[in-house]
Amino acid sequence: MSTFNRSKSINQRTLGVGTPRTASFGSPRVKLTSVSHWFRWLVVIGALFPFSIAIAGGYFYLLPSLTQAFQGFGTSKLNDSMEECNLFDGNWVFDESYPLYNASECPFAEQGFNCLGNGRRDEDYLRWRWKPKRCDIPRFNVHGILERLRNKRVVFVGDSMSRTQWESLICFLMTGVEDKNSVYEVNNHNITKRIRFLSVRFNSFNFTVEFFRSVFLVQHVWMPRHVPRRVRSTLKLDKMDDISNQWVNSDILIFNTGHWWVPEKLFETGCYFQVANTIKLGMSIPVAFRMALDTWASWVEKMIDTNRTHVFFRTYEPSHWSEQSHRLCNISDIPISEAGGKDRSVFSDTILEAVKNLTVPITVLHITSMSALRSDAHVGKWNGNPSIPDCSHWCLPGVPDILKSVHLLPVKSAKPRLWSTSSSGVNCEARRIENIWSGLSLSLYLLSFVY
Ligand SMILES: *[C@@H]1O[C@H](CO)[C@@H](O)[C@H](O)[C@H]1NC(C)=O
Ligand SMILES: *[C@@H]1O[C@H](CO)[C@@H](O)[C@H](O)[C@H]1NC(C)=O
Ligand SMILES: *[C@@H]1O[C@H](CO)[C@@H](O)[C@H](O)[C@H]1NC(C)=O
Ligand SMILES: *[C@@H]1O[C@H](CO)[C@@H](O)[C@H](O)[C@H]1NC(C)=O
Ligand SMILES: *[C@@H]1O[C@H](CO)[C@@H](O)[C@H](O)[C@H]1NC(C)=O
Ligand SMILES: *[C@@H]1O[C@H](CO)[C@@H](O)[C@H](O)[C@H]1NC(C)=O
Ligand SMILES: *[C@@H]1O[C@H](CO)[C@@H](O)[C@H](O)[C@H]1NC(C)=O
Repeated sequence: MSTFNRSKSINQRTLGVGTPRTASFGSPRVKLTSVSHWFRWLVVIGALFPFSIAIAGGYFYLLPSLTQAFQGFGTSKLNDSMEECNLFDGNWVFDESYPLYNASECPFAEQGFNCLGNGRRDEDYLRWRWKPKRCDIPRFNVHGILERLRNKRVVFVGDSMSRTQWESLICFLMTGVEDKNSVYEVNNHNITKRIRFLSVRFNSFNFTVEFFRSVFLVQHVWMPRHVPRRVRSTLKLDKMDDISNQWVNSDILIFNTGHWWVPEKLFETGCYFQVANTIKLGMSIPVAFRMALDTWASWVEKMIDTNRTHVFFRTYEPSHWSEQSHRLCNISDIPISEAGGKDRSVFSDTILEAVKNLTVPITVLHITSMSALRSDAHVGKWNGNPSIPDCSHWCLPGVPDILKSVHLLPVKSAKPRLWSTSSSGVNCEARRIENIWSGLSLSLYLLSFVY
């Protein structure tokens, strides 16, 4: 349980930043949302399609024919030898060609994440790219991606880490759009921490990129009846969030959760777990988290047409708070070489466990260890309010830009044969794999995150 304790403390501090408890729980109309971070390594567990292959911990390797998958995506630096490449085995390398956009020129990058705009002087943090040891991931081409997304619906669901990801994707895509006024929030809403729904439409390309705030994914209910006094609200572990029906008809659906599953956001605010009609006062957070993910998994199987929708789940993104004080960041100028334990998270482990039982293809983006190395890339004191540093969220541009490419993979169309074997030697037939990656020739930064 030591891992969990560590995560807990990381989380609680995470949540303290910019998301005051009273704000999140103070109003019955505001549902709990979880702030989790995504990326680490992308764990592509998708390969399980009909056969639910025992991937438990197996690694996928990038197939040589990957190059094919990148057709039309700009320069293919991909090494086309037939050697296999473990995308998660790699490191951050300096690349002068980054960043991909200027946050000050993007109306959808919120001020709190615009580190340069808030006075950060060093710029190296903007220029690190993920490099798997045995292959290169090609840089992706914004025009190609915009075309790929034409007529599509991209939906992010989760906490503020998902919102960051949503902003990153929009800002990147906007660099390829000439008429910036053709990109707008459909309800004319401004971005706020607690807003439940944001949808940005790229009018010339007829697609939307949406964000639903659902920090726990399951349903949060205020003041249930006939309960002990200390119970102010409950999380119904067996029921999906009441807005979940709005996530269904999407083409790319990306989840995260984790950062809100901490005592400070739950028990200490009077929020307890509930299963059916029973309040589970003694239930631990890891057990509850697992139940919620199982509810999510059943929901995906029942509600999502995976022929249309490519479903992703991003694992936990670690924060970098100082061990000495909850109010200080422990950040560096360059990526660190040792994750110092942050490369594991009970939340990530549980996500990996929960998707194993799925009979439909899901892609887990296992970004935990990868992002654990980026202690240089947090917002820190450059959030516009230096007295309350933020060691959880990332600067924009920055880490989210690298990670987002992953989401672009699944658009149907191409016929890549991306993965062939797991480390345990299980062969996945190309056909099955196509179901998973169907499409995209992707932009594969993604691949970097394949587990
Ligand atoms: C970003 O854009 C702002 C406003 O246009 C400009 O002042 C700033 O120099 C730009 N920053 C970079 C790094 O290009
Ligand atoms: C591909 O990568 C391997 C391992 O890094 C290297 O030995 C090989 O020369 C590369 N092939 C090409 C065509 O770049
Ligand atoms: C826009 O995309 C939707 C699907 O998201 C499609 O039904 C509609 O026909 C498209 N409109 C145009 C003008 O292409
Ligand atoms: C959004 O923010 C702008 C400037 O900060 C403000 O003028 C506008 O009224 C806000 N819109 C809404 C819908 O709150
Ligand atoms: C998905 O596609 C397969 C093969 O094309 C088909 O057999 C299956 O019925 C489809 N599933 C749904 C839910 O449409
Ligand atoms: C900061 O992080 C490094 C590892 O990256 C660790 O060795 C050190 O103990 C940490 N310092 C504090 C004060 O948390
Ligand atoms: C996963 O599947 C196994 C075998 O069908 C079952 O025993 C187990 O309870 C399932 N786990 C979850 C969390 O659904």
